[in-house]
Order: sequence, then C-alpha cells, then structure tokens
Amino acid sequence: MTLDIARLRAETPGTLEVAHFNNAGSSLMTAPVLQAVTDHLTLESRIGGYEAAGLAKAAIDRFYAAAARAVAGKPHEIAFVENATRAWDMAFYAFDWKPGDRVLTARSEYNSNMIAYRQVARRFGVDILLIDNDESGAIDTRALENAVDERTRLIALTHIPTNDGLINPAAAVGRIARAAGVPYLLDACQSVGHLPIDVAEIGCTMLSTTGRKYIRGPRGTGFLWVREDWVERLEPPFLDNRAASWTAVEDYRIQPDARRFENWEFNVAGKIGLAVALDRMADIGMPAIWARIRALATRLRDGLAAIDGVSLHDTGREKSGLVTFTKAGESAVETRARLATAGINVSASKSQLTRHDLLDAGIDVMVRASVHAYNTEEEVDRLLAVVADG
Ligand SMILES: Cc1ncc(COP(=O)(O)O)c(C=O)c1O
Repeated sequence: MTLDIARLRAETPGTLEVAHFNNAGSSLMTAPVLQAVTDHLTLESRIGGYEAAGLAKAAIDRFYAAAARAVAGKPHEIAFVENATRAWDMAFYAFDWKPGDRVLTARSEYNSNMIAYRQVARRFGVDILLIDNDESGAIDTRALENAVDERTRLIALTHIPTNDGLINPAAAVGRIARAAGVPYLLDACQSVGHLPIDVAEIGCTMLSTTGRKYIRGPRGTGFLWVREDWVERLEPPFLDNRAASWTAVEDYRIQPDARRFENWEFNVAGKIGLAVALDRMADIGMPAIWARIRALATRLRDGLAAIDGVSLHDTGREKSGLVTFTKAGESAVETRARLATAGINVSASKSQLTRHDLLDAGIDVMVRASVHAYNTEEEVDRLLAVVADG
C-alpha cells in the first residue's frame, strides 16, 4: 500500500517548478503522458493526421480497456469525449424529457449540471428537486428515498463536489436508485483517480469524468461510462458519422455500443495520453493513491485549523482531497496570489449558490487547495507557513 513518492515526483517534472495544489483544476502530467502526446503530435506533423492515427491504432484503442479498468466497467461501455461536462451532457440530454418528469439531485451539484437542469426545466417542464443536505452537508439519503416517486426519471449526483470538500455517499444513493428502478447519473469528475471507483459497487447507470484532474491526463479529454443495458436506451442528443452509420439515403443506424456518444473528430494525441495516464494510475494502485491523498489532506486541514483567522469551509463526514478555506482580512484571490508568489498553486473557487452558510457570511470565493498523491508533507507545511504569514 505504500507509494514510492520519490519515483512519483521524478516522473512528474512539474514538481521541480511548483508546489501544485490545484489538482482539482488540472493536475501535473507525468513525463510519459507528455511524451506520448508530443510524440503523436510530432508524428502527425511529419506524416499527416490520418496516417499517424493509422500507425497509432493500438495506442488509441488501448484507451477503452484503460478507462474501463479505472471504473471497473467494460471497454464497450466507454465513450471518449473532450471533457467531463460533455460526457455528462451526452447522458443527461439523451433522455426524452417530458413535462412533469422529475430529476432528483443534490445541493452540491456541479454548476454546469445545475444550468442543464434549469434548461430542461424551462424547455420541457421537467421538475428538478434539490434534495436537502443532511447535518454533515452531504445529500440526505433518507430524504432522497422519500422523494422518489413514479415521476422520477433520473437520480443525479456529484460524487466529489468541486469545492465542498465532501464526498457524497454515492453507493448509498446507488442502492436507492436500484431499489426504485431509476437510472443514476454520477458526476465522477473529481473522483476517478482520487479514490477507488467500482461502478457495480456504486450502483450507478452512467458516469462522467475528465482526463486532466485526478487521472493526470492531458487537457481536453474525458470519458463517459454507460452500463451496457442502458446504452441502447439512450439516444444521444446529436449524432455524427462516428456515433452512427449512414446506411441508406434516408436511413442511419446508431452505434450499438458507447461509441454512439463520441465524435468523429477528436484529440487523438490526448486520447493516447489519457490511456497512458490511466495505465499508470492502475499500476500505482488506487487504494494507495487514496490513502496518500487522505493523509495529506488531513495534515493540511489540521494545519489550517490551527492558524489564527483561518476558516475551513469543507462539509461532509467523509472528506476529499479538496480543502477549502478563507483567511480573515484577506480575500481568497489575495491568498492565492501570495501563495503563487511563493511558488505554490491553489485556486480561488466560487462558493455554490446553494451554500447559504457561506453566502450569508459574505464568502463568495474560497481558496481551494487540492492535494494529490505526489504532493509532499513538506509542500503542505510550506503552504501552511505562507497562509499563516500573511
Ligand atoms: C464536480 C465537477 N463536475 C464537472 C466538472 C467539469 O469538468 P470539465 O471541465 O472537464 O468539463 C468539474 C470541473 O471542475 C467538477 O469539479
């Protein structure tokens, strides 16, 4: 279970330049990922894009097995797309929404998802029910269970919210969805590569994620997993000549597998790089990565809690590697700038409109320091010293 931290850092050239605590934004790529991407771009520039793709077919196709392993799914259940939002959209907008349909979701849902809910509410008269949080700040599973009725078409949940610090009880929600016979869409954008994911254990029907965050792949990559018995029940919101075949002048056939959610044109180098990142993640081992993230996040939270004037804003019983805080007398943007001057990357993250506790306290933006396994205790302590110094 122990990690070779020296190796993790040696294969991550960015660690020589910055203490990177913006892994929830976009993580540092490893040298092999970078190499795979640049090698393919070089090949494209030398012999042509289609010719390069022909030569790299095995490396491109490798992606499906690698992504499937990351979520304990099957390769034909995986679609490569450009980011987590598009992955989520391809599933969400595949429902033929009707007036009165109900979506049950949580208050900690990602903001793009919230916008999509409002759009289908306006366009189709879909009812969006934000289930209350429990006393810890996670989705209240009892309230969710009570809210399920015959109009419920979908349960949707963000597993690790972008800036709440919490981990939602994804598997408990899965049990409720399964018992009710309702499909369940999990936004796992921050959780794949962060903690072990097993779609059967969670009980979700669809899962979306991105490449550049905890998986440590290139930007502009992501994937959707759809359980095989649901693939053909979901008609993608748009189709092209990869998602479907033009079979007669007036006819077409949608792909029977998850490729129906893909685009003809895609970032080939990115897909190859994402496969390399996914393979490395599996080699290191998710239980070890998760244990390390947890230990570093605990050190960071404990350290921040001991600094005068610092308020932690994370909710939830089970906490993620995303640590959010503010310091009295300085805005989150100012804290981020002071840390950047010291060579430490964090982000300044807008509070959710549903976090009334923060908005009532006048906290619109928080500092988000998101740890990954390759971070060190020394980096955490340096961050704490800079925060304390201001
Ligand atoms: C929970 C969550 N879902 C979805 C997204 C969107 O991911 P992407 O930018 O890859 O579309 C993010 C990005 O921060 C996120 O944190």
